[in-house]
Amino acid sequence: MDQVTTLGEFIIEKQQDFPGSSGEFSRILSAIRLASKVVSQQINKAGLLTDILGAAGSENIQGEQQQKLDVYANDQFIKALRGRKVVCGIASEENDEFIPLNEEGKYVVAMDPLDGSSNIDVNVSVGTIFSIYRRLSESGTPVKESDFLQKGTEQLAAGYVIYGSSTMLVYTTGNGVNGFTYDPGIGVFVLSHPNMKTSEDGKIYSLNEGNFYKSSEGIQNYVKYAQEIDPATNRPLTGRYIGSLVADFHRNLIKGGIYIYPATTTSPNGKLRLLYECNPMAFIAEQADGLASTGKQRVMEVTPTELHQRVPFFAGSKLMVEKAVGFVETE
Ligand code: AHG
Ligand code: MN
Ligand code: MN
Repeated sequence: MDQVTTLGEFIIEKQQDFPGSSGEFSRILSAIRLASKVVSQQINKAGLLTDILGAAGSENIQGEQQQKLDVYANDQFIKALRGRKVVCGIASEENDEFIPLNEEGKYVVAMDPLDGSSNIDVNVSVGTIFSIYRRLSESGTPVKESDFLQKGTEQLAAGYVIYGSSTMLVYTTGNGVNGFTYDPGIGVFVLSHPNMKTSEDGKIYSLNEGNFYKSSEGIQNYVKYAQEIDPATNRPLTGRYIGSLVADFHRNLIKGGIYIYPATTTSPNGKLRLLYECNPMAFIAEQADGLASTGKQRVMEVTPTELHQRVPFFAGSKLMVEKAVGFVETE
């Protein structure tokens, strides 16, 4: 076997990037690595398990129906993070309130344990998204909501796991983006995509065009622009939309493109959640030389006011995001 770097080795190697953390921070990444292996295994065999596909019969705080795998993934990530003792609280898409953990812990985690879960029953890629902050309140006291309501610029690390044709974990600690592919045969994530960069421009645009008439004039004009024949290439842009943010974002990161979830008449702040969808993806986009905007400002500079807050989201290749934002910024 050629020389490989595993995620475990990589985390230890990079521990020195966090002076004073005495390995505590690395333990959070290890917990996420562990839970994602468990969830990956479950997702891979989901079609065989009658008790894991489909709706759980409950709704989350956003009034969305929870899938059984939403609940399963949420439990796995909470369990793994609780076990490491260094996290004082978790904000999850699947929980109305934040979950207090060890009061001594110095870190908080925001997560979307299963993104794109409506795709699970049809064997299409889903993901997990996470974001890690240092708490603001003093350790040894109960975690507070304000510990989670930090700007994205304060993130210490963020990443996602894509459960696709292979499972990959992609993350950043602010020193570039690295991607690891899971080898289920030996049970390890292997560094397969070191120092990921997205191209400055791209050809793919990804948004739910069913929302066309519910979108602003600016968005409608952008879609028309994307569909026009570009004289330079003699073709329009290419529309690609899976409906799993992680999968759409990951494809665009690698190939060059833009992901958009705009404000609509029925969702005036868009659909995606700032803390555990937009900010972590924005951190990765920027670290890969791309951009992420709400259409009005840099995503990571939005001051959060609520755990489950939504913002319009434009992310991907720099020139494509600038172009799209140009259509909406004066609205
Ligand atoms: P989740 O499954 O975590 O609720 O997220 C679903 C999100 C996101 O993954 C995806 O990009 C978007 O919803 C799709 O929304 P539409 O079906 O409205 O296009
Ligand atoms: Mn999601
Ligand atoms: Mn989700």
